[in-house]
Amino acid sequence: MDRIRIVGGSKLNGTIPISGAKNAALPLMIAGLLTDETLILDNVPRLADVAQLQRILGNHGVDIMSAGKRPGDHEYQGQTLHISAANIIDTTAPYELVSKMRASFWVIAPLLARMHEAKVSLPGGCAIGTRPVDLLIMALEKLGAELTIDGGYVIAKAPGGLKGADIDFAKVTVSGTHVALMAATLAKGTTVINNAACEPEIVDVADCLNKMGARISGAGTPTITIEGVAKLNGTRHTVLPDRIETGTYAMAVAMTGGDVQLSGARPELLQSALDVLVEAGATVTPNNDGIRISRNGAGIKPVNVSTAPFPGFPTDLQAQLMALMTTATGSSHITETIFENRFMHVQELARFGARIHLDGETATIDGTAKLRGAPVMATDLRASVSLVIAGLVAEGETMVNRIYHLDRGFERLEEKLSACGATIERISG
Ligand code: UD1
Repeated sequence: MDRIRIVGGSKLNGTIPISGAKNAALPLMIAGLLTDETLILDNVPRLADVAQLQRILGNHGVDIMSAGKRPGDHEYQGQTLHISAANIIDTTAPYELVSKMRASFWVIAPLLARMHEAKVSLPGGCAIGTRPVDLLIMALEKLGAELTIDGGYVIAKAPGGLKGADIDFAKVTVSGTHVALMAATLAKGTTVINNAACEPEIVDVADCLNKMGARISGAGTPTITIEGVAKLNGTRHTVLPDRIETGTYAMAVAMTGGDVQLSGARPELLQSALDVLVEAGATVTPNNDGIRISRNGAGIKPVNVSTAPFPGFPTDLQAQLMALMTTATGSSHITETIFENRFMHVQELARFGARIHLDGETATIDGTAKLRGAPVMATDLRASVSLVIAGLVAEGETMVNRIYHLDRGFERLEEKLSACGATIERISG
């Protein structure tokens, strides 16, 4: 199994190109199931989760062509996928495939909307809490689907097609909003989603669906209205930049010190995180090419932060912020409100010498002067990258094990960091 070796102590200086957002690319690819015409997606990141979803879609009969690099293309531009679901040969998403990536459960929505049936394995346990799908099931039932659970599968049928409805989410859910949105595009009549997630990835998917002929308004607000249409067409769409990757590298620069241009980043996608970084003592300058982040001289100031749905501080940056706060000049408090048990990184950060006390949903981090390198591993994507951030300043060598979690969500992480002066390498085997 590959590992990443880091020798801490170097400041980061240079340019890091920001990739397309994983959390938009995945639902956009799934939206390709809604039409028999070709959906072309540009700026799709080269990630293990994208490759896994290609396998899952392939199992339904979807043809996916990945365009090679063209002359003049920058290698970080991401890949272009041509997704053609002209012939859906199978409406079952089997356990072996779905269990490897939770978001693949979302195929239930377009399959039900277009084919009027789907049999999709329940995703099963997850390292960051129980992550149920009850709200997704509620939304599909509201749209008129009949759902039963048998042998670990959700079996969904809508013989006459889905029908528009009012869907009220008791809790803000990204997955629930994606599923309701996709399903409602081909439902008969009007659907109103109340308490919808406002995440930029929802807006990106809605924009793409509208280009495909859907009639969606209000995406990015808590109330989304969808007028169902009979058919969707193909289109071409560019995946928006990854705000979590952006925030992760911004935290890394705040941690090590230095000066880095995050090329292609969009500040409005992560304003709450940028505000926290400024409070912590970093200098954040939005410019024409993205965001410039630097920290020179002054120490890192402690902050108190709670995660929240967009536009609040994202849960997907919580672990990285905690790594940053381990070297702050005082005590910080970080409260996780979205997922229970999303603190697996705490024990691993302690291996660097970090002093973190957990009390329910809140972690208190006592800034410690010096982290020391250690062998570490993590069981979740964002937790893993927090260990990389800590390793960048820790004295001596850090070995991050089980890096397949990193490969799920960070494109060429070690290349991007080493280009800015970090001592970091992948060790194969
Ligand atoms: C998505 C993101 C993930 C991010 C999360 C929150 C993708 C591929 N993943 O995950 O990176 O951390 O949003 O921003 O986009 N819930 C229920 N019942 C349900 C569905 C969700 O109780 O049926 C709960 C969850 O357990 C959690 C909360 O709602 O406590 C938010 O979950 P949700 O927004 O749906 O997260 P995901 O879409 O799974």
